[in-house]
Amino acid sequence: MVSIAVKTCVAALLFVVGYNWIYSCRKRPLPPGPKPVPLVGNALQIPKDAPWEKLHEWFTTYGPIISLKLGSRTVIVLGNRDVVHDLIQRRSRISSSRPRFIVFGEHYAKSRFPALLPYDSKWQSFHRIQSSILNPRNAKGYRPVHIAGCKQMLYRMLDGEHIVSHFSYFVSSAWSTMLYSTRAEPTTETTSDRIHDMLAHLTELFCIEHSLLDIFPVLEYTPGISWISKRKGEAFFKEMMTFFEARIRKGLQSASWNISQAWHQRLPAGTQWEDFAGMITEVEFAANSTLPVTLSIIAMMFALHPEETKKVQAEIDEQIGTQRLPTFEDAGKLPYTDAFLRECLRLQSNFPFALPRAVTQEEEYMGYRIPRDAIILPCQYALNMDETVFESPKAFRPQRWVDNPNLPSPATFGFPRRLCPGKSYAKDLMFIGMTSMAWGFNFEADNNVSERPSESYSLLYIPSVKTFRFSCRTAAHRAIIEREWQESETNVHSHHSPRSQVESMRG
Ligand code: HEM
Repeated sequence: MVSIAVKTCVAALLFVVGYNWIYSCRKRPLPPGPKPVPLVGNALQIPKDAPWEKLHEWFTTYGPIISLKLGSRTVIVLGNRDVVHDLIQRRSRISSSRPRFIVFGEHYAKSRFPALLPYDSKWQSFHRIQSSILNPRNAKGYRPVHIAGCKQMLYRMLDGEHIVSHFSYFVSSAWSTMLYSTRAEPTTETTSDRIHDMLAHLTELFCIEHSLLDIFPVLEYTPGISWISKRKGEAFFKEMMTFFEARIRKGLQSASWNISQAWHQRLPAGTQWEDFAGMITEVEFAANSTLPVTLSIIAMMFALHPEETKKVQAEIDEQIGTQRLPTFEDAGKLPYTDAFLRECLRLQSNFPFALPRAVTQEEEYMGYRIPRDAIILPCQYALNMDETVFESPKAFRPQRWVDNPNLPSPATFGFPRRLCPGKSYAKDLMFIGMTSMAWGFNFEADNNVSERPSESYSLLYIPSVKTFRFSCRTAAHRAIIEREWQESETNVHSHHSPRSQVESMRG
């Protein structure tokens, strides 16, 4: 009797082992890629400085889809429009989630930032609330806020210094107005500084050396390592919440309608305060981490490409003249200026890898296995540098967009289901910021300035902006900038203010 039971168990065991062996032999391979070394995988082969350039090289060697090992994580990197379309758009049901961001997302943000949440009902609910206001139709209603902020930015730029801080202040002030109805006054400049200090801290967490826990999740269970990260994260979260809570409460109590109030009214019953505050905080962080950088990139490109900049200024002078500032109504009349902006976004992508996605179900693609829980990085940099789409992709040639209006838009704002919800607002602010700068200022680079990033944070690109000069084009331009700013200041408390115009969108 016993021997029959033993024989049956052994047979069952052999069957399971055999089945698994045959199954694993039949399993499709992962996409190709550089050979990983034990334990760390490919982590040491990826340079800290501009890692996307190395990835681009690997696409040439291995093809448009490659796999890497970062510690124990499998990372699949996508390098052209077709594979991004197939895996991110057509198979969005399995590729719209986010991986666990243990340090940034869980320890520092306590899972309160929707951007870092998996694709689940909680994310969908917050995303619906965000999109109810952050949509292209509403973005138009906020244009007066951008115009007013831009006038202030131009006025501040007359000092010929600290350009990044003028951009930061412009963005921070515009978003304070929209989110809380509190336009930042010059005396509260520390507000934008505080936000940028916190952002700088968070940005560093993207570096590979700060991502050990993300690369080796097993370290979570190692006493000490996880504890230190959690403790630092908790202190940061507390400070961040205290700061933003004060701003949000002010917004909720304001007599003027604002986005915080609109979102608050749409919250499902039982929503925790931290989730609501997290949703607003991430939007402030998103705007403040991207737009000043993009405006800096544009200004840097003005300085580095004088011939193309002259063409932008000639177009603006012809269409707008010197007697008034640019407005949004000018948008359709400035094809070369629009082309210049597209070329900046193509060449200097702020998010070279967009934001990481996670695969929720094993999938087969091009004969390769895309395993469940793999991280997917759609490499926007590679899409923008694809020489089958853009001739001489490394050259700065705005004219290519004028000559060929059918070129695909630069990969900048990510991809469907997780596409950047602030896209329309960002495009408006970039358009008016860029056109106004070119209208009023000349930019000049030092000889040694380069387009390469001065700081690179694995997933983010920050340009080097310290080495160019800028000055107002003529006394006539200066006089208009001064006059417009003074008038705008006088109007702030009147019924002509941008805030009261935004109010009219309420219904
Ligand atoms: C030039 C400016 C900007 C750029 C280049 C940019 C780029 C991106 C990219 C690449 C993503 C990831 C998309 C994906 O996973 O496929 C993203 C997500 C996001 N962006 Fe932007 N963004 C910009 C401005 C803004 C602004 C002004 C806001 C403010 C509302 C914003 C809010 C967000 C949020 C909340 C997400 C997360 C979406 C999610 O829940 O997954 N962004 N952005």
